[in-house]
Amino acid sequence: MEHIYPIFDRMLSRTDKETLLGQRGMMIWFTGLSGSGKSTIAIALERELHRRGLLCRILDGDNIRSGINNNLGFSPEDRIENIRRIAEVGRLFVDTGIITLAAFISPTNELRRMAARIIGEDDFFEVYVSTPLEECERRDVKGLYAKARRGEIKEFTGISAPFERPEHPALTLDTSRLSLEESVKQLLDLIEKKQQKAAKE
Ligand code: ADX
Repeated sequence: MEHIYPIFDRMLSRTDKETLLGQRGMMIWFTGLSGSGKSTIAIALERELHRRGLLCRILDGDNIRSGINNNLGFSPEDRIENIRRIAEVGRLFVDTGIITLAAFISPTNELRRMAARIIGEDDFFEVYVSTPLEECERRDVKGLYAKARRGEIKEFTGISAPFERPEHPALTLDTSRLSLEESVKQLLDLIEKKQQKAAKE
């Protein structure tokens, strides 16, 4: 790009940050329907990681869409731009050595592949919160499924817009079968394994 002069070569490196923190930066990317439990799991997981002395950052749909992405809707184009910006921001956190927890529907394989590409495949761990549509709709925490069924919300994921199951998630968690504690435990196992592996390298 013209007239853009990155200063990355003079900045401290990711390794400097990771050494300071004593942890490895990584992205835990939750994908699943609205109301599947992505944010709830991320919040509980963050608490557990924090308690173990690990620095985390949650990025979630409702926060990001009221701030940096407040000019975006839910058309396919806007969903791409939503995920692209989130992945770019997420990469900054991961490059700072932070365990980053992203909770977005991110409904297609293409969107999730784009996020993985931006963040870096080695740092990207896809977690599919596979709670069935019937259960998400039964919970209807925000009342949005009822509105979508009445046609008051267009292009609603799972009702009038697609959701593709991830092909090779690192973990699949169905919150209609697993307790919150069990989901968090499975995530801690995954994260601790990756942290130990990084420490050995
Ligand atoms: S994504 O598809 O672009 O990844 P994102 O996770 O940011 O979605 O936002 C999803 C949240 O926006 C939902 O949990 C819900 O609260 C709200 N929402 C509003 N309209 C829609 C819609 N048409 N489809 C899906 N979610 C919607």
